[in-house]
Amino acid sequence: MITVVGGSGEGSTIMHAAADRAPVSRIGTLRVENLALTYAASSGDRFTVLDIDRMEIEPGAVVGLTGPSGSGKTSLLYTLTGIEKADRGSIRWGDTDITQLSERGRDRWRRHNIGFVFQDFHLIPGMTPLMNVLLPRTFEGFFIGSATRRRAQDLLELVKAPAARASVAMLSRGEQQRVGIARALLNRPGLIAADEPTASLDADAGRIVIDLLLSQAAATGATLLIVTHDPALLARLKRVYHLRGGKLLTT
Ligand SMILES: Nc1ncnc2c1ncn2[C@@H]1O[C@H](COP(=O)(O)OP(=O)(O)O)[C@@H](O)[C@H]1O
Ligand SMILES: [Mg+2]
Repeated sequence: MITVVGGSGEGSTIMHAAADRAPVSRIGTLRVENLALTYAASSGDRFTVLDIDRMEIEPGAVVGLTGPSGSGKTSLLYTLTGIEKADRGSIRWGDTDITQLSERGRDRWRRHNIGFVFQDFHLIPGMTPLMNVLLPRTFEGFFIGSATRRRAQDLLELVKAPAARASVAMLSRGEQQRVGIARALLNRPGLIAADEPTASLDADAGRIVIDLLLSQAAATGATLLIVTHDPALLARLKRVYHLRGGKLLTT
């Protein structure tokens, strides 16, 4: 059960019942060493996109990642979450070095541990908000029991998404991102990863999304890693990494 206390916007308090307080995934401390990622250029040669000596993020931390366009922010978020495979180095989340896992192993690890919020939402138009929140489970072939369905409905209520619409295509962009957040939270991830989650939203919708990400990470104890250029969002993050040309400027 999820209880919502207070109104929307600044100062609202969102509390979870005891069973929901801890993330199911205890993802542990992130320790990155000697990381490199390369991509293939049109010439066939490979060019270095990420070159990172060290990076450490403790569980429950709220961390921003910023830098100019093309500096490697999305590549880093994808590599830390196992969507991209590093060419070199280690990426340990607690006891698991995801660079040592097979692609299937990384996929399974990611499903259990990561909730991903995309800049452009990645929702399926024509499906209801509820179906979109449940979709990752559907792809995984998991049986969707009544408890999962109820949690998805509770999350849609929590994020104040209009759950009754026949299609997410009818929702405003801000409402679509709230559905994206509900979907990311479904598995109670140890890491909430968000790639420019407010970039395509107006200021009001962006503020609601920031409030939700921060309050939900705090309520569940999840680590929150946000890629952003948004000054309003950066101003609310205590710790921010800066990327330039695939290297970290500050750690
Ligand atoms: N799949 C890919 N193949 C080849 N090059 C890519 C690929 N994805 C991104 N790049 C290049 O890698 C660099 C970093 O991209 P990206 O991580 O998307 O940067 P950011 O998110 O900071 O804008 C850019 O030069 C981009 O063109
Ligand atoms: Mg990007």
